[in-house]
Amino acid sequence: MANKVFAWLDERLGLTTIYNTVLDRKVPKVNWWFTLGSASAVLFALQAVTGMFLTIYYVPSPGQAYDSIQFIMNGVAFGWLIRGIHHWGASLMVIFVFMHMLRTFYYAAYKYPREFTWITGVILFLTTLGMGFTGYLLPWNQRAYWATTVGTEIAGTVPFVGSFINSVLRGGTDLSAVTLTRFFAVHIWFLPAVIGALIGVHIYMVIKLGISHVPDKED
Ligand code: HEM
Repeated sequence: MANKVFAWLDERLGLTTIYNTVLDRKVPKVNWWFTLGSASAVLFALQAVTGMFLTIYYVPSPGQAYDSIQFIMNGVAFGWLIRGIHHWGASLMVIFVFMHMLRTFYYAAYKYPREFTWITGVILFLTTLGMGFTGYLLPWNQRAYWATTVGTEIAGTVPFVGSFINSVLRGGTDLSAVTLTRFFAVHIWFLPAVIGALIGVHIYMVIKLGISHVPDKED
């Protein structure tokens, strides 16, 4: 029965072809450093799932943000676990993406024909940092408030356009309810959409071009 269902779906969706192209590709002899990209993708998925659960109770308003997080930690079943995974997952993702970037640089995988994979990677790295920056404000505690005050202040020192960037980030001259809702929107909609789409392009390139090999003497 299961075989029949599979054959029916396979004929219509081309599941075997997808499996062969995506998962059963030939790869050169590589090492553990080549697993960091996949690890980054898994961490992104983990962040997306735990983040969705957090939005069930989190309230992005100055009056309620802090208390809603206290409630997630102490009142919601396994809330502490979901928040803990999201919290540590965020730092891990930055570390893994950075190490993956170092790996591709060290093995010169950014060269022809993989320049575009590298370019999408650079944007992925910046947007991953953006996730950390926007997420940090959401607990709306003293540390979050002042870290974001300093962060947006630093952005304000960019020559010529600094004060414009600062007021776009803050939504005014100071940190306020506007800053919190805008950071929340960017954190849960804008940046994840960009990262999701870019991971799609990035992995399409990896599949299309094949993975590079560890350079040998002839290279
Ligand atoms: C969310 C972030 C990222 C994800 C999910 C991701 C995912 C992947 C995956 C699954 C691979 C296959 C090979 C491997 O795992 O090493 C790969 C390859 C590659 N990535 Fe990323 N990546 C990310 C960020 C970056 C960054 C920041 C850069 C560089 C600026 C980068 C540049 C590359 C390059 C050049 C390759 C081709 C490597 C080769 O063919 O050996 N990636 N990426």
